[in-house]
Order: sequence, then structure tokens, then C-alpha cells
Amino acid sequence: MWNSAHQHILNLTAYEPGKPVEELAREMGLDPSAIIKLASNENPLGPSPVALEAMIAMLQRSHFYPDGGAWALRNAIAQRLGVNRENIILGNGSNEIIEFIGHAFLEPGDEVITAKHAFAVYSLMAQLFGATTIEVADPGYTHDLDAMLAAITPKTRQLFIANPNNPTGTMVTQEAIDRFMASVPDHVLVIFDEAYFEFLDHAPDVLRYVREGRNVVVMRTFSKIQGLANLRIGYGIAPTKIAEVLQKTRQPFNANGIAQAGALAGLGDETHMRRTRVLTNEGREYLQAEFTAMGLHFIPSVANFVLLQVGDGDAVFQALLRRGIIVRAMRSYKLPDWIRVSVGTMEQNRRFIADLRALDQEGAIAHATKAAA
Ligand SMILES: Cc1ncc(COP(=O)(O)O)c(C=O)c1O
Repeated sequence: MWNSAHQHILNLTAYEPGKPVEELAREMGLDPSAIIKLASNENPLGPSPVALEAMIAMLQRSHFYPDGGAWALRNAIAQRLGVNRENIILGNGSNEIIEFIGHAFLEPGDEVITAKHAFAVYSLMAQLFGATTIEVADPGYTHDLDAMLAAITPKTRQLFIANPNNPTGTMVTQEAIDRFMASVPDHVLVIFDEAYFEFLDHAPDVLRYVREGRNVVVMRTFSKIQGLANLRIGYGIAPTKIAEVLQKTRQPFNANGIAQAGALAGLGDETHMRRTRVLTNEGREYLQAEFTAMGLHFIPSVANFVLLQVGDGDAVFQALLRRGIIVRAMRSYKLPDWIRVSVGTMEQNRRFIADLRALDQEGAIAHATKAAA
């Protein structure tokens, strides 16, 4: 039976997530509380206290199905963004929105355009629906929107712009986006993935294209700045007709009520978001300054993680694991000599740097020159 599955699914390599703390503790016989995870761009402060309170209250109502239409949360998001509730679709994480878009629009043989070092789930989802991913070179590890535009063919159905991008931490400017949007043909759905939007000081505005009714979906998530990654809740913002189509593809209760309650409460907690941004900025500056002091090549980031060139990324990843630190090896992103580290608390950042320095002294880290990189 098994080999009668669709060939494109048999060929699919599943997404490789950040290593869970519990798994490392089991494998290495370590105390979980001694392990630090800087692998999945999570919020080291956790969820907002008011979100926690709302979720605990909602736990008491676990025997009820959630509000499948998510009236309160969709209204609150829409109000904040200056769009209508009908423009908002919730996902079990923003990853699920990518799947909805595939369900609605992709057929075998279609083409999906991404940057060469874009977030991995875009091409996984394309493959799930039998589509082909066209990867466009990203000089300087930044999306090249002119080149992505030039890669469009009559078969192109979707084009992903992650802004800022994971794992590179780079972003494209308003000007580049506007130039791109002025020329992109109508048969292409443009997906702006803004999972890290709230960390930006000067964020481009792409919601104007939703309001104009263009062929766009903007994705955001509660997994990052809101610290609700475990709850799996994210959303898409799209012109009404596109949002209505996407609504047809989802399970009736895809966003659980505990996640909805936490997200709704968290959305109003400006203090928590501000604290997270301040911590992230401080931690990122610290990490990047330390990398510079160590003579290591990294990609300056605008998000809550940094891509760092270390030589043998897998070996450094393993060596850090043995020291109880989980980062992300980048081989699956076609970056075998890099690791990606998420910004943690200052205590975690300092411990990571101390261990990285120790590995450097042992000769485990290769120093790339910028020119060689
Ligand atoms: C660029 C990007 N988009 C989407 C996601 C998925 O987030 P979610 O937890 O909302 O599914 C991530 C998660 O790391 C990401 O980095």
C-alpha cells in the first residue's frame, strides 16, 4: 500500500524542527533545566502574563469546542490592522496558512518561486501539492525581487517573500517591494511572510496591497513576539475574496480556543511586546558585537536570530549540544558551514558566547573571511 502514495509525497523529506530540550536531555543524560534552546526563534520571556491568565481560564472550558469562526480574535486583529474581519484567516500556526494556499491554488506541475535561502516550509508545501519550487539566487543573502520577478513564467502560481527572511535575518525595502508589485503579473499570488514583523524598527507596509485588493496574502504569527509557539496560532490577511477561498480549505476548528484566548489577550499587552523587543535588540547587538570581536563572519540581522559562519556547521552544532546548548545546523538550508542562533535572555546569550569562545580556543571553529564567504 505505502508505495502507492503520490510520488511527490514519497519523495518528500519532512521538515526538520529545532531539537527539543527533552530529547537532548534524554540523549545526553542531562538535566533539562541545564539546557538552553536557541534554535527556533522563540520568545525567551515566554507568553505575556495576561495571555497566560486568559489561557488558564479557557482551560476550564476545555470540554467545549472552540469558536470555529474565531469572531473575537479576528475582530481584534482586523481592528489593529485597519482591515475587516473578513480579511483575516486563522491558522494552526502561520505554517497552516501556507498549506491552505496550496490546497486552494496549486496543481501538480505548477511553479512556486522562493529565494534560494528562504524558509524551508514553502518548498515542502509546494512539493506536497506536486508543484515545483524555483529557487532564485539571493546575493548578499537578501531576496532579489527583480530576479524573482524575472523568474516568473506562465506556470508560476505563487511567489514567497519572507520579510524579514528566516534563516538569513535580512529584509527587503519598501521601495523594492513597490517596484516589484508594480510589475508582478496577475496570475501570481504573492505571499508576504511577516513572522518577524513586530521586531522591525522600520517595517515596510504591505497591507496596502490587501486593501487595494491585489493578489496577495500577508502572514503573521503569535509564535514569535507573542511567545505562543506551543499553542500553534498564526494568521493570514488577504483581500476578502481570497480569504473566503482559504476559509473553505480549513478544518472547522483548526485554531483551538486556548490559543485564541491567549492570542487575544496577548495582542493587547503592549508592555510585553515592548519588553521582548528591547531584550531582542540588546541580545542581538551583544551577539553580533561578540562575533565581530571573535573575527567571525555573520549576516547582520533585523530579526531575533543571527546566521553565523563557523566552518563545519554540523560539527559545531554537535559540540554545542554536548555543552547543553541547542542551536540550528543549517545544512538543510544549503548552508552547511553556518549555524543559526536565536536571541535568548542575556544570561543565555552570555553562556552561548562563553561556550562558542571555548570551542574557538579548541580550534573547532573556522574563521571565514568576508571575501571567502
Ligand atoms: C519565516 C517564517 N515563517 C513562518 C514560520 C512559522 O511560524 P508558525 O509557528 O506560525 O507556524 C516561521 C517559524 O519559524 C518562520 O521562520
